[in-house]
Amino acid sequence: MKDLISLHDLTADEVKGLLDLGLKLKKELKSGIAHPILKGKTLGMIFTKSSTRTRVSFEVGMTQLGGYPLFLSSNDIQLGRGETIHDTAKVLERYLDGIMIRTYAHSDVLELADEANIPVINALTDLLHPCQVLADLMTAYEHKGKLEGLKLAYIGDGNNMAHSLMYGCAKAGMNCAIATPSGYQCDAEVVENAKSDFKASGRELIITQDPVEAIKNADVVYTDTWVSMGQEAEKAERLKIFTPYQVNKELFAHADSEAVFMHCLPAYRGYEVTEDVIDGPQSVIFDEAENRLHAQKAVMATLMG
Ligand code: CP
Ligand code: NVA
Repeated sequence: MKDLISLHDLTADEVKGLLDLGLKLKKELKSGIAHPILKGKTLGMIFTKSSTRTRVSFEVGMTQLGGYPLFLSSNDIQLGRGETIHDTAKVLERYLDGIMIRTYAHSDVLELADEANIPVINALTDLLHPCQVLADLMTAYEHKGKLEGLKLAYIGDGNNMAHSLMYGCAKAGMNCAIATPSGYQCDAEVVENAKSDFKASGRELIITQDPVEAIKNADVVYTDTWVSMGQEAEKAERLKIFTPYQVNKELFAHADSEAVFMHCLPAYRGYEVTEDVIDGPQSVIFDEAENRLHAQKAVMATLMG
């Protein structure tokens, strides 16, 4: 494992290893046991999109591992003025021990990882958000005591979260159901890759336009914003189309009675999810946010240690 670009690239054992290490680091942190695994190392953090959780959890995580996080806004570095990814990679690898990047085009992250002789971590592209899903798997494990055989239902936009959740569920031995409206389905190539991962795991992948079919008996119910970063101009149209996909009490009632509700955040109450669900007793959204810290420390320790 040189980089973390997509959970599809990892074996089931590698995913399990990251989750186990994340849980161990979490336990150590809570018991006051220091773990300076990356002492003296520096992580460059390139952002061309906004962030609260990702930025803070990577910065704090790197600090807790004894290293130094260097925030690099694309507004300030020459990449934002047209310097090539190739030259950026060749320069940064001379200073840094790893790069975390959040940007639009997935191909830019693939190019960066190809060109840089140091680990590259995908902290969200238009296509994928693997770090979030590692935290989500960790959270589901903590609440359910296992992952194997659980059913996760994702209701909403066929976006970066839906894609990474499919990959993550397959690697974790979970079943997965995705319900999206027509015209907003998941990327066809990602679905093909996911299908082969599910075939290998012997678990089920359901792709449907029917939210009730997807959520039936689910152990984990997941949704995400209907308007991802970069789609602001489509907002009015999207809000109309996605209305039948809102996760509200009526829809949630079709899930398993002990289902947990998950959302990567930021959330827009009254749109993709109602307050009674996201702020209700079955919601674990802040555990997911916390686990970003622990899961990403496992990723950094594994790739940069
Ligand atoms: N879930 C997530 O990645 O949040 P941020 O956009 O705040 O980093
Ligand atoms: N799908 C959302 C996820 C935010 C963490 C977006 O890309 O904006």
